[in-house]
Amino acid sequence: MSTQRPMEHDLLLDFLRVVEAAAIAAARTMGQGDRKYSDHVAVEKMRSVMESIPMTGTIVIGEGERDEAPMLYIGERVGRGALEAGASFPEVDIAVDPLEGTNLCATGAPNAIAVLAAAERGGLLHAPDMYMNKIVVGPSVKGAVDIDAPVKDNLKAIARRLNRDVTDLTIIVLDRPRHERLVSEIRQAGARIRLITDGDLSAGISAAVAGSGVHALMGIGGAPEGVITAAAMRCLNGEIQSRFVLREQLEQPEDREKLPDGLADRMKRMGISDPTRVYDTNELAPGRKIIFAACGVTDGTILRGVRFFGTGKRTQSLIMTTETRHVRFVDTVHVEGGPDTFVRFDRF
Ligand code: FBP
Repeated sequence: MSTQRPMEHDLLLDFLRVVEAAAIAAARTMGQGDRKYSDHVAVEKMRSVMESIPMTGTIVIGEGERDEAPMLYIGERVGRGALEAGASFPEVDIAVDPLEGTNLCATGAPNAIAVLAAAERGGLLHAPDMYMNKIVVGPSVKGAVDIDAPVKDNLKAIARRLNRDVTDLTIIVLDRPRHERLVSEIRQAGARIRLITDGDLSAGISAAVAGSGVHALMGIGGAPEGVITAAAMRCLNGEIQSRFVLREQLEQPEDREKLPDGLADRMKRMGISDPTRVYDTNELAPGRKIIFAACGVTDGTILRGVRFFGTGKRTQSLIMTTETRHVRFVDTVHVEGGPDTFVRFDRF
């Protein structure tokens, strides 16, 4: 395939196939109670479908470093360019989360998705697997919030931009002990809260989609999820502000224990010279050509999960890019039956 055509035409549908395949594989394991297995099948499937894509891809956000992850590890070369010596394909940086919300899938809870973001080389921040404090809002609220402002001021600003009272807002927060203060400040301000057990990436995307009933995401979640959220915000015209949370800033021992040693060095190696500064949407995902693709695994706020039936399966995905102003919700019927298989009209 020519390298002259816009990246969207070359890769958007390919990435759709990748997230659909990962979502279907993970969805088969829904409710089996084995989050690692659910993740494993999604990773394997995502990796194998990527092999057919005409690109020279580099994983910049993935399943960890090479010694801990056999596939989709940071720095891994993927796509046909990694297999065909001498071939010339577009160079692409890729951030993957083959199964965002492993617990959600393992328990059949809502909002598990398979997701990836891609950009030209250097177009996505290389962030280690650590925590990040985030605030995510949609297009109408862009420019009105400040991650360093008191929670009540941000809520007032969001309400003002959305033309409603603070009491009419719904804010999503991960249900974690580290958010006790944040939750109590939101409650005091009078806003409604949706506490979620997992999945702050899909929650952030919901905040940028009008009609989802979600007005902001606040709190500390994964940094890799933050970068992928930023890629989505670039396409949806939303906003994320974020700041890395260092081990010593985490109050809960269980949060500190999840972090590997040597994080400060790792951050430096990844080009993060000042870990205390605020990173906004454009700094997390600075690429000129961003592609974002997500497919629902379990039913969720903006995407339906995979449905299996006798002669195939049906998926719902969100694919979008900064190259064109198209946000596509894609409903795919994967027909597997014989010639008499019928496709049913599905009103969302
Ligand atoms: P997994 O998909 O790896 O299970 O992560 C889910 C998630 O809830 C993310 O959405 C979130 O950013 C992060 O984990 C929060 O981390 P922690 O569970 O350590 O609070």
